[in-house]
Amino acid sequence: MCGIVGYAGGQSALDVVVAGLKRLEYRGYDSAGVAVLSDGGLAAAKKAGKLVNLEKELVNRPLAGGSVGIGHTRWATHGGPTDVNAHPHLDNAGRVAVVHNGIIENFAALREELADRGHDLASETDTEVVAHLLAEEFSSAGDLAEAMRLVCRRLDGAFTLVAVHADQPDVVVGARRNSPLVVGVGEGENFLASDVSAFIAHTRSAIELGQDQVVELTRDGVTVTDFDGAPADVRAYHVDWDASAAEKGGYDYFMLKEIAEQPKAVADTLLGRIDGSGRLTLDEVRIPDAVLREADKVVIIACGTAFHAGLIAKYAIEHWTRIPCEVELASEFRYRDPILGQKTLVIAISQSGETMDTLMALRHAREQGAKVLAVCNTNGSTIPRESDAVLYTHAGPEVAVASTKAFLTQLVACYLLALYLGQVRGTKWGDEIHAVVRELARIGDEVERVLETMEPVRALARSLAHKDTVLFLGRHVGYPVALEGALKLKELAYMHAEGFAAGELKHGPIALIEEDLPVVVVVPSPKARSVLHDKIVSNIQEIRARGARTIVIAEEGDEAVVPYADHLIRIPATPTLLQPLVSTVPLQVFACELATARGNEVDQPRNLAKSVTVE
Ligand code: M6R
Repeated sequence: MCGIVGYAGGQSALDVVVAGLKRLEYRGYDSAGVAVLSDGGLAAAKKAGKLVNLEKELVNRPLAGGSVGIGHTRWATHGGPTDVNAHPHLDNAGRVAVVHNGIIENFAALREELADRGHDLASETDTEVVAHLLAEEFSSAGDLAEAMRLVCRRLDGAFTLVAVHADQPDVVVGARRNSPLVVGVGEGENFLASDVSAFIAHTRSAIELGQDQVVELTRDGVTVTDFDGAPADVRAYHVDWDASAAEKGGYDYFMLKEIAEQPKAVADTLLGRIDGSGRLTLDEVRIPDAVLREADKVVIIACGTAFHAGLIAKYAIEHWTRIPCEVELASEFRYRDPILGQKTLVIAISQSGETMDTLMALRHAREQGAKVLAVCNTNGSTIPRESDAVLYTHAGPEVAVASTKAFLTQLVACYLLALYLGQVRGTKWGDEIHAVVRELARIGDEVERVLETMEPVRALARSLAHKDTVLFLGRHVGYPVALEGALKLKELAYMHAEGFAAGELKHGPIALIEEDLPVVVVVPSPKARSVLHDKIVSNIQEIRARGARTIVIAEEGDEAVVPYADHLIRIPATPTLLQPLVSTVPLQVFACELATARGNEVDQPRNLAKSVTVE
């Protein structure tokens, strides 16, 4: 949440920073602002609303140019989305400017202190106190990095801070605790940003910062220390995708592009993970096999879409490895006092690698002695860094707030992980593993086939644009798919959407069914235990008898559902456990089209942000 950019180099800082903010706007779009240093002065502009408002403001009131600057795109926490609350925040003398991502928990006490010392704070934000504290510390330290270290030691909570000071016009200083900040290393120019997409057009060389570190950036160098000023260890890495991967590439929305990229994302996530003899080799899983063999429980922690991937993973893990598996919302996990020990394997799933709820849950798990394995899409992010091992998904950058290709690749990674556990523990034979991997390898083509047949789904979505409610039903792995379909519709179409286990319907939710209510039903493979399939066919009849308009997602060749489907969406036949890889796709397309038909912003739904870095 909140996107931050800092720049020191030879180009126009304003141009670089605004271009970087465009790439980070998915992180929050309540307001945007910039501050640029030029000969002896600091010039700032900020505007509520999307970045485009700031761009208009900069046309009407151009800022003096300079080659050092910072910028911010906001997801509001403290104080509404107004011009005054927008970042950057300045001290009373207008010499220091700061942008912030996170929450400063002790800001109220600091604010009172500052007021007692005569500071005049204008906004409702927690951030503004930092500008004033930096100004105070700078006046005695005479150095912005040192002032930042002194201020950070006084702050509680989570924060990425990036600041400039008019009296040190060549320098940008950043600090991080629990919120993301990466360094981009260029030639004669350096960058700071919440993620690499902000500077990927300029450099693919990045430095991952650790917890409680302060970074000082000039056009010629990068210096990193801890909060006490001691030199800090950092990890340099090369970003393995380029600027084009973070552009729309001719699609109207990032979401459409990312849906279309799914066959490749699935294939890329499988790539290189099987050796010549057909054995799985998950190189990044550094947890010793002996520990994996002894694990007596798997606990999956995740949020939102990643949580739904975890719910599906549970079926595969328990079926293939016979280890009990719990799946828990990361935001609830540590408050429940979960029973964890050295034999617990915790899997933390996160696209961004920065979700604060998941990060806090994984820290709690490690404190209790559990081993944590991250399934993550973002190299250099906090969750893999703080885990004992990581299995990267190779979805490439996901920009649309609604997660699509990340979800499919999370599923693939979880299937691989479950098979790997089966391999290590000897609960699956090599040929059995190979058979599943062969099926996984052909899924990319099946997803492609699904994508080619989506026009009727789009037409159906448009015809339902006036509806208020859509329900989703599923059984077995189809149940989490129903939850995911409902989540997509809520966040994109702003419609009331609920996912239910089809068998639960009769225990209450069936009372919601009324004439012409659209109900999407995800039907398990008829090849699965036939009782499972038979039961859901009965459920479809039950809701149809009560007036529901049934939208049935069923495998090709499943004729039993035909008489009860008002709308039938066909998906290719797949092994039972893998079906979510194809059944989710029509639901993504459905939600995207409904959002468009209702005139909603597809890539940037209201109130949301892509990377949720507050608890
Ligand atoms: O980056 P993460 O995978 O940790 O994010 C978790 C959720 O915030 C995310 O999946 C969210 O639910 C998506 N917007 C859903 O489309």
